[in-house]
Amino acid sequence: MPGFAKRMAYMQSTADVIRYLFESMTDPDTISFGGGAPAKEALPVELIHGIANEVLTRDRRGVQALQYGNPIGIPDLRQAAIDRLLLPKGLQAGMENVMIVSGGMENMNLVSNLYLEPGDVVLVESPTFVQAVQVFRMFEAQCIACETDNEGLVIEDVEAKIKQHHPRMIYVIPTFQNPSGRTTSLERRRALAELGSRYDIVILEDDPYSEMRYSGDVLPPIKYFDKTGNTIYANSFSKIFSPGSRLGFVYAEKEIIKKFYDAKTATNSHTNVVTQILCAEFFNRGLFEPHLKLIRDIHRERRDVMMDCIKSMLPDGVNYVYPDGGLFTWVELPAHVDTTSMLEEAKQHKVAYMPGKEFFVEGQPIHNNCMRVSFGGVTPENIQIGMERLSSVIRSKM
Ligand SMILES: Cc1ncc(COP(=O)(O)O)c(C=O)c1O
Repeated sequence: MPGFAKRMAYMQSTADVIRYLFESMTDPDTISFGGGAPAKEALPVELIHGIANEVLTRDRRGVQALQYGNPIGIPDLRQAAIDRLLLPKGLQAGMENVMIVSGGMENMNLVSNLYLEPGDVVLVESPTFVQAVQVFRMFEAQCIACETDNEGLVIEDVEAKIKQHHPRMIYVIPTFQNPSGRTTSLERRRALAELGSRYDIVILEDDPYSEMRYSGDVLPPIKYFDKTGNTIYANSFSKIFSPGSRLGFVYAEKEIIKKFYDAKTATNSHTNVVTQILCAEFFNRGLFEPHLKLIRDIHRERRDVMMDCIKSMLPDGVNYVYPDGGLFTWVELPAHVDTTSMLEEAKQHKVAYMPGKEFFVEGQPIHNNCMRVSFGGVTPENIQIGMERLSSVIRSKM
């Protein structure tokens, strides 16, 4: 059999982790805090059933849905992104600034196509969303982790690493970060935009969770402070509509969107038109805002139950993040507890989580004593039961 390309090694390490997670989630008796999926109760199944019946007919949008589409995406979904997702954040985009992509993940791929040459440096948060790191590495970029604290990336460390490594790009998830659940402060958002402009670096702002806010004040995106076009704003419809639909979008200067268009055409022609139409109609009919309220209510309750459990069940010496939104919290155990080996024991007790190690860039400092605990896909009752199981495993280690 012929050998595989070198990049397959990068793809394989992420795929292995994801496969492992899916396996632990398929055991019906195991309560898994490992996945990153939203609540299944938050998927608009009935609404989409009604829309599909109505519009997927020959005299409405059936032919458009099944025909080839435009690489940039259908106009009404781009308009919905502009009016309903960007404008409320203070971002004034025109149609020439927005393109629809196949899920937020495709943004990583397209941005990499546009900007990364082999050997380029990408600065990332520590910890970060490693699936994005694997994409940058497929393009033979070197990813260097920067320090973070409760307010997000530590700007002094970022600037020192800019001077030392001359990065091409900084990848940042400023709101309800995956995996930590932390939110970058207002001042640091402004500072990151300014660093991008001053050193002429691409700031890739990945923002799939900001709509899912359950408490605290809304903050403007990094892109809001960008005066030079260095920040590219990437978003996804996965958490607010449906992950299975594979829809996302990007907002950037029109010259950049033209290049996105070329890269998209060359890679997969265009995004699935059937799901674009269903999602656009969902917005056009005014269904998004009430649905978002429902999504927030469901996940806020789960967040609250999870945080109550963490506070009341976990022993002293455990630190954790209180997330104002999103799907995750980040739990830090004393330094001697290895959450990777502890997972085997946890699984015997029918509970799973994501070991923190998976979120640190290879070859950079790793915190083996952390874990990502996801509350999105678990009912409040099961959060309670799962956390009882997990806390007894943690106590046995401490
Ligand atoms: C930070 C971050 N970016 C991007 C994505 C990808 O989202 P999508 O499902 O739209 O591809 C995720 C999904 O979990 C994520 O957590």
